[in-house]
Amino acid sequence: MNEIYYFSGTGNSKRIAEDIIEHMPQTKLFSIADVRNEKIETQAKTVGFVFPIYSLGIPRIVEKVIKTMEFQGTKFIYAVATMGGNYGIAFEQISKILKGKGEKLSATFSLTMGSNSNLFMKIPGTGLISSEEEQEKLYTSALEKLDTIVDCIKNRIELYEPDIKFSSKLISGLATKAFIGGLSKYDKGFRVSNCIKCGKCAKCCPVDNIEMDENGPKWLGKCEACLRCFNMCQNKAILYGKMDEPEMYKRYRRNIDIVTMD
Ligand SMILES: Cc1cc2nc3c(=O)[nH]c(=O)nc-3n(C[C@H](O)[C@H](O)[C@H](O)COP(=O)(O)O)c2cc1C
Ligand code: SF4
Ligand code: SF4
Repeated sequence: MNEIYYFSGTGNSKRIAEDIIEHMPQTKLFSIADVRNEKIETQAKTVGFVFPIYSLGIPRIVEKVIKTMEFQGTKFIYAVATMGGNYGIAFEQISKILKGKGEKLSATFSLTMGSNSNLFMKIPGTGLISSEEEQEKLYTSALEKLDTIVDCIKNRIELYEPDIKFSSKLISGLATKAFIGGLSKYDKGFRVSNCIKCGKCAKCCPVDNIEMDENGPKWLGKCEACLRCFNMCQNKAILYGKMDEPEMYKRYRRNIDIVTMD
């Protein structure tokens, strides 16, 4: 048996995990959000992690789950990152955790699928939410890598994304640290305008971080910054920070249905 553990805010990573499984039916799919408080002991022959890049690293919840996992007889561990365009130190982070457990990261893949966030738009090079046409193009070209990914997993072929420059590693390390350090306050930036109190955002949050009260959604301080709530609200009622540029009102919904229809 094979296993894939995925985390996905807006559906890109879940879509890719499901695309892999379509070619590898003997694979069980686990949502990292659903198993985040479990002690996982896996006996799967191949284990994959599929996740989005956050601030040039891996999401906190992904790090937490990999750290607590135990591998018993696993032969091939791989990582697939979906991203706006820069994977930073994500694969190094996973490799380091696995090394500490006497395991090896045997293959890494990055798929540029477009950014689901405009919140860092003032930071050059972080990517912005692209047009729907561009999102389609990116998704189609990401799928072109699928055969290689499946071939590597099936035949246990080691293949790695290129190592990044030393200076980029330093920057990525700082960016990741600052991001994780700021997560407990991240959801203080959310507010609502024209909310119809449908409660869908609360129902869809992967880590149950939203409660409804008489004013609409209330964020509880354990946000993973996945931006599912921000992007999925059909009324665009969820705003973040200043919203002082028209770009801030764009939303990313290419694959959102796959994580909001559960
Ligand atoms: C908080 C946050 C930080 C992000 N940082 C990066 C980044 O450093 N590099 C990058 O290429 N994409 C970044 N992105 C974009 C996502 O990695 C990308 O859109 C991903 O495909 C989303 O996957 P999902 O739909 O499975 O959540 C970031 C997105 C969010 C929400
Ligand atoms: S913010 Fe959007 S999804 Fe959430 S309750 Fe209001 S209208 Fe519904
Ligand atoms: S509150 Fe919103 S951004 Fe935070 S984890 Fe939940 S859905 Fe994601």
